[in-house]
Amino acid sequence: MVGLERGQILHSDAVILNRNKRPTGQGPSFIDTENVFAVDGRQPLYMIDSFVSANDSSWVYKAKDLTNKDYVAIKISKAGVYATKGTSDILELEAKTMAKLRRCRGVVYVRNLLRMGDGNRAIVMDFIEYPTLEDKINHLFSVESPIEDAELIKVVKEVSKTSEYMARFDLFHTDLKPGNIYLDPTYTLISDFGISTWVLQDRSMVPGESIYMAPEIIVSKGKVKPNLRSEEFVIAEIAYQMLTNDLIFKLRNKAGPEKVIRAMEEFSYLQLRDFASLEKRLGPRRAILVDNVLGKVLEKNPQKRYPGPVEFSKALEKAILST
Ligand SMILES: Nc1ncnc2c1ncn2[C@@H]1O[C@H](COP(=O)(O)OP(=O)(O)O)[C@@H](O)[C@H]1O
Ligand SMILES: [Mg+2]
Repeated sequence: MVGLERGQILHSDAVILNRNKRPTGQGPSFIDTENVFAVDGRQPLYMIDSFVSANDSSWVYKAKDLTNKDYVAIKISKAGVYATKGTSDILELEAKTMAKLRRCRGVVYVRNLLRMGDGNRAIVMDFIEYPTLEDKINHLFSVESPIEDAELIKVVKEVSKTSEYMARFDLFHTDLKPGNIYLDPTYTLISDFGISTWVLQDRSMVPGESIYMAPEIIVSKGKVKPNLRSEEFVIAEIAYQMLTNDLIFKLRNKAGPEKVIRAMEEFSYLQLRDFASLEKRLGPRRAILVDNVLGKVLEKNPQKRYPGPVEFSKALEKAILST
């Protein structure tokens, strides 16, 4: 399969998931496991509008749902990339994971999963008009203006709540990063569940090395399972990035995870963070408080961290709002 053209119509051979509207009564109440994957016989058609993004294994397009004229985002697998014998396509697992989170307000809503004639899968999601946190950080960096306290707190709290909600079902995203977080003013959304634990579990895979991953996860090469404290570490790194427009372990800009891990083993958070930039952003008093909170979460020893992201987010909020 090659890339798609504007105006091209997408047919599907099989509709695996189909629910165009988020069910009412949302919120972290229960997980919908029944009937989620039922084929309802309709064959929705989508018309490609524009290219959005690509990586090694998939493309993302903006498209129009021809049945109701809504815009959707369609993530389509590239042929052959995941065609391992006997395993279902990873994109299908990704969509099914998102489908089980349809009642969670902090997750991008998945509408549909299509099986195409060539065997590829396409995930159809709500099209999110809002920027990702990555877009926002880049923009703010270019205009040299800091992210507002209220927005920072909102993002950290909401992503933390979503992460803890998912953990109740033993699901960890493991790829949280600014590019997978969308700044919906109603509720911050996360997406891109391609390496989340349910997907990896099903394929007996170990997580790859993401530059935002907690050190104990990378070092253990799959032995330490992702957990609330490792997710908390990642959310704290993202918070630091929002505050300083910089990565906490600066090496991460250039070096691969191995070098980062070595640096993290040799040095502590106190040596690797840029306190001056926290101070510039927050003033001396708040910088010390916020630095203490971040230092606790970015401990190498997970036992010294807060028990989970929500407690961390509360401590961070308190430090930022202190006078
Ligand atoms: N539902 C969506 N609405 C709007 N843009 C999206 C949506 N899903 C993905 N994108 C865009 O495509 C990019 C890549 O999508 P993502 O699911 O993160 O895949 P990957 O990072 O694996 O390539 C996102 O960073 C975002 O810019
Ligand atoms: Mg992504």
